Amino acid sequence: MSSQNIYILGIESSCDDTAASVIHNGKILSNVVASQKIHEEFGGVVPELASRAHQQNIVPVVHQALEKANISKEQLHAIAFTRGPGLMGSLLVGTSFAKSLAYGLNIPLVDVNHMQAHILAHFIDEEGFDKPPFPFLAMTISGGHTQIVRVDNYFNMSVIGETIDDAVGEAFDKSGKILGLGYPAGPEIDKRAQLGNPKAYQFTKPRVDGLNFSFSGLKTAILYFIQREVKANPNFIKENLNDICASIQYTIIGILIDKLKLATKQTDIKHIAIGGGVSANSGIRQALKDGEQKFGWTTYVPKFEFTTDNAAMIAIVGYLKYLEGDFAEQSVMASARLKI
Ligand code: KG4
Ligand code: ZN
Repeated sequence: MSSQNIYILGIESSCDDTAASVIHNGKILSNVVASQKIHEEFGGVVPELASRAHQQNIVPVVHQALEKANISKEQLHAIAFTRGPGLMGSLLVGTSFAKSLAYGLNIPLVDVNHMQAHILAHFIDEEGFDKPPFPFLAMTISGGHTQIVRVDNYFNMSVIGETIDDAVGEAFDKSGKILGLGYPAGPEIDKRAQLGNPKAYQFTKPRVDGLNFSFSGLKTAILYFIQREVKANPNFIKENLNDICASIQYTIIGILIDKLKLATKQTDIKHIAIGGGVSANSGIRQALKDGEQKFGWTTYVPKFEFTTDNAAMIAIVGYLKYLEGDFAEQSVMASARLKI
């Protein structure tokens, strides 16, 4: 990468995390995230509450990011922000803030696609983490996204598969809700799955053509299964929770791995990079490692703080676009359904 001395501030506010990060060339100097606890009470993100919390958090979060990076705002070369996709009310807070700050400092503004950023997070300079070579396949799996993307270059990528209904993180969270677990349920299902038998119960996998995914049918199948079993034994969930979690996780991972197998076959690309909160899952990490042995894959998982929603990934895209001179106008608008 360039030997110039470039400082960029990245701002992320697409969903329920208000985040800011300073990058110096390709290296992250600070990565601050204010996660909104308020949504836990509601079992999911409440858009109206999310935008209000962004409004409260954005100034202190940006302030902290600059402070931790030990630079002043006058040293910044550009402001990068998430333009979309995401919740409109949330995006507007980060977008307006970034535009005003860039205007006030008289420096370039860089708009960033959140889904591209999840993928390009792999290009942050970080010791112990290899960068995938082009072309590679990226699978972004979180509470809001499930996509397989063919990446030919930093800015040349195409979605080759995506969910037609729920995201994979939602499959974890909604299953958890059925089982009476707190929100988000993914981490607890993962923990319990490690203590249970993944083959205790079978759930049929959805049949979706090609590389697309569907998770809503699985959620319904789990709901009916639990209702039936609880009718026969009111303590069914309590007595078998680890086995139920293990079986659900096993099914979900099977769905993801089947599609990855198909994608590698169709594209003949065996480098696979994953991102998004669900990439923390121990089962998916193991399945990817197994894929290295079984199918000759090389897999890449970024540092955890760069894989959930964060601003470091926005800052790295900001840096890469800055090097290209690819800036946004002040008239740029947030876009809730922005595509890759
Ligand atoms: O990327 P993220 O922090 O936020 C977005 O959704 O964009 O991802 C959160 C999602 C939630 O659905 C959560 O349940 C899931 O990631 N998750 C996990 C694990 N850790 C987080 N799912 C399964 N296993 C985990 N260990
Ligand atoms: Zn995300």
